[in-house]
Amino acid sequence: MRTLWQHCHAATMTGGRYAVIEDAAIVTSAGLIEWIGTRADMPSVTTDRVVDLGGAWVTPGLIDCHTHAVFGGNRSGEFEQRLQGVSYAEIAAQGGGIASTVRATRAASEDELLGSARQRVQALMRDGVTTIEIKSGYGLDLENERKMLRVARRLGEELPVTVRSTCLAAHAMPPEYAGRADDYIDHICEQMLPALAAEGLVDAVDAFCEHLAFSPAQVERLFIKARELGLPVKLHAEQLSSLHGSSLAARYQALSADHLEFMTEEDAMAMAAAGTVAVLLPGAFYFLRETQLPPMDALRRHGVKIALASDLNPGTSPGLSLRLMLNMGCTCFRMTPEEALAGVTVHAATALGLGDSHGSLEVGKVADFIAWQIERPADLSYWLGGDLPKRVVRMGHEISN
Ligand code: NIG
Ligand code: FE
Repeated sequence: MRTLWQHCHAATMTGGRYAVIEDAAIVTSAGLIEWIGTRADMPSVTTDRVVDLGGAWVTPGLIDCHTHAVFGGNRSGEFEQRLQGVSYAEIAAQGGGIASTVRATRAASEDELLGSARQRVQALMRDGVTTIEIKSGYGLDLENERKMLRVARRLGEELPVTVRSTCLAAHAMPPEYAGRADDYIDHICEQMLPALAAEGLVDAVDAFCEHLAFSPAQVERLFIKARELGLPVKLHAEQLSSLHGSSLAARYQALSADHLEFMTEEDAMAMAAAGTVAVLLPGAFYFLRETQLPPMDALRRHGVKIALASDLNPGTSPGLSLRLMLNMGCTCFRMTPEEALAGVTVHAATALGLGDSHGSLEVGKVADFIAWQIERPADLSYWLGGDLPKRVVRMGHEISN
């Protein structure tokens, strides 16, 4: 079925930048964008259906490229502790933090995890998200990491959203391996990752490179294994301190390095040269009351692609709105609304290895787009969350949300 969508303006985000077509027309067919341009330039084609978008602003479907949407329990008690002055690192050292979510996730059945994650993913979808990345990392053994990754796959099958799954087995130390981090990395490399990859559950491999998690040397062993298995890598890096994990990620042509508050200019240069996307996570910055800002000027000066994501997780960013992250990216990190929009569309697609098919409105790409009833694209970053009137088109078909 060929559909013509018209009476709209389009923020196409082609070429990795904010780019606009006023009075646009979009022709979709077989789930793809067949033609896009100004209505005046449209060639005469036969269409099965014409949709009047009522003067809406059309953007690519939003992409949340960093989430931990699947987990058991929640950590609102730790939120209260932190408000009393206990730090995230102290809570982790006392056996709370990620370890407490690991206990709750291990205790939950696959269906229970699916039920709670479904609600969170649906909340993101109500915000215009059509593609989402979901990490494992609260199972920390083969059976429970598999359970999480299966939930991620099932969400992609049952909801109208594209899901990319990332194996984050190297997120924290499982209790069984206490004090034996190298042995756990060996176990991931020799047993877990090959098995999970063979089951088709892994689109990318991630790790948490930090003093309270894994060292650059341990992460590098994991990256070597990922490369052997033909899997792209990404990394949680420089969130709490500077270990140059982002430079390490760049050496392995990582899709992205994420967080980055403590990165250096040299790290930014390495990422730019490798094409590794900087994924900024203002929800975690805000929720941890971090004061160290990512080096925006260095990232811009060296031309690093900047994405924004929710980091939806129970410990550091219980963020159910990607549009709220647009606002936080602007307010906390001084991004422009145009940069923020690029961060949840075209650069987020690249951070997931989907740059050829998603993230911008251009011929041949998947017809995922949102028609927003707003006055200007900057309105998407302006409102603090809330439900903006919109129509959501996924693979050329309008879906209700
Ligand atoms: O992205 N940095 C490590 N991982 C998560 C936090 C996970 C948690 O505390 O449960 C993050 O911020
Ligand atoms: Fe994260």
